[in-house]
Amino acid sequence: MMTLSQQLETTLATVLAERIGLSASPVVTPANDLRFGDYQSNAAMVLAKANKMNPRALAEQIIAAWPADAIATAEIAGPGFINFRVRTKVYAHRMQVAATDDRLAVTTVSQARTIALDFSAPNVAKPMHIGHIRSTILGDSLSRIARFLGHHVITDNHIGDWGTQFGMVTWAWKHVLDEAALLANPLAELLRLYRHASDASKSDESIRESCRLELVKLQQGDAENLAIWTRCLELSKQGLQQIYRRLDVSFDHWLGESAYNDRLAPLVAKLLDQELARESDGAVCIFSDGSVDDPTKDPFLIRRDGEWTDFPMMIRKSDGGFNYATTDIATLEFRHEEWHADSVWYVVDHRQSSHFQQLFTVAARLGLDSMDLRHIAFGTILGTDGKPLKTRAGDLPQLADVLDDAVTASRKTVEERSRLETEEERAALAELIGISAVKFTELAHHRLSDYVFDLDKMVTLEGDTAPYLFYSFVRSRSIFRKLEETFTPGDAIELTEEAEIHLARLLSRFAEVVPAVLDDCRPNILTTYLLEVARAFHSFFEACPVLKSDGMTRYTRLTICDVTAKTLEKGLALLGIAVPERM
Ligand code: ARG
Repeated sequence: MMTLSQQLETTLATVLAERIGLSASPVVTPANDLRFGDYQSNAAMVLAKANKMNPRALAEQIIAAWPADAIATAEIAGPGFINFRVRTKVYAHRMQVAATDDRLAVTTVSQARTIALDFSAPNVAKPMHIGHIRSTILGDSLSRIARFLGHHVITDNHIGDWGTQFGMVTWAWKHVLDEAALLANPLAELLRLYRHASDASKSDESIRESCRLELVKLQQGDAENLAIWTRCLELSKQGLQQIYRRLDVSFDHWLGESAYNDRLAPLVAKLLDQELARESDGAVCIFSDGSVDDPTKDPFLIRRDGEWTDFPMMIRKSDGGFNYATTDIATLEFRHEEWHADSVWYVVDHRQSSHFQQLFTVAARLGLDSMDLRHIAFGTILGTDGKPLKTRAGDLPQLADVLDDAVTASRKTVEERSRLETEEERAALAELIGISAVKFTELAHHRLSDYVFDLDKMVTLEGDTAPYLFYSFVRSRSIFRKLEETFTPGDAIELTEEAEIHLARLLSRFAEVVPAVLDDCRPNILTTYLLEVARAFHSFFEACPVLKSDGMTRYTRLTICDVTAKTLEKGLALLGIAVPERM
């Protein structure tokens, strides 16, 4: 089923072509201010400009020719906007259809793409910290939404399993490993090793050099170092899996940096051979090719002391080692060749934006630019003091601890507000609220903005929170437990009260909101929408008694409750959040 925007666009295009003689693909968007209409279009203004006409006069012509049987009435506004008001019976019909459609009338895309989604990707051998939550949660939600819309999504956890930290862990493993501790609590011991080497190499130049040499040995295939690496990697992955399980996040692949090791030397040789890279002070680098006129747009230039100077991408160090960038180029080639990806989306911290600009430019030079390459960047998580979140010791808080704290905080909400009786149910609800609250808060912010991580706020029932949506869902569902009759959705309904119409109007928009998330990869479009639905549902519930009504009114209101519950449930599922049946 077409969305209402699409239906209006089709009618508008027909009116323009058949009655006015203009062929166009006009755009109709949902109105922000519902007082003036449900949908709006600036097509008359755009077309008038292109055809040297008076916009208002063109809008008037459109309105005069607007068919009386269209799904909406049309009105002129301002200098030539057209506002549409959708007929109530259209919304009633949409509710009737949605009530029995698993997809809630959300259609799949006409052109499915193969999207490689690169997210989470922590550097292993150290535990995941709070900063990893953003990529993990954003990426997971985007993968769910893209799949739901019919894309072929390949999720890949491109873990950092080949970098500097392994040099450090290997060095410490050889010098200070405590075997008993490793058996008892492997992750804690790995972290201790990492910290030990990291601290030692900060104060001692020779230890830093030893760590570097351990890494070089590993990358050159030294048997002892490879064996240590394999053990560390296995243990670290187990630790990561615990967190992913708790977050309900999974990946199709875990092709970490090490998976591309064999491709790096040939890649550098090829880039040198094609003169896309050249030697510079013993290293191999990719430079500006001078094809970009505006230096501010050239990712291989940087302004230093008032002058534009080279900002090359290093792909082989002078010691022969390869870089993060080398692996990323190899990975991109792999995803193109092996997966035939049409799109590669990287959900990575905004501080890596110059890396990705360079990577995408190199991709273009290699002829890989037919792919839709996106750096889905995000900002920083702040503490309640407004500074980047740190523990008292000054480290980034470990993700596992943060999740525990979230569950502890949600326990309070459960104690105060839950009607669940057994300890088992209450503990499960606290876990669900805690994890969901962290996820929802992440997704509810514009990904590029920094946000304050305030657990107490995330878990309250009164606020723009996951538990508020849970409560709304449970309320819309619980009515069905109180029914004496059986309710079978799918029959025609009649909307009469303003609160019913308003909620039905919002629920009908679900089919437009979900695809809109992918335009700019912003799940906060969906969170905002779900909160709006929940608020409209509570107003409806106050204004329109359900159980005390009968006949068509009762059936209509039950249908609205049903579609509300299904929309909240599906919307949250697309964010990676499961709803509780009871609270
Ligand atoms: N491991 C990297 C980091 O922690 C992120 C990797 C992102 N993905 C990529 N293909 N570069 O910074």
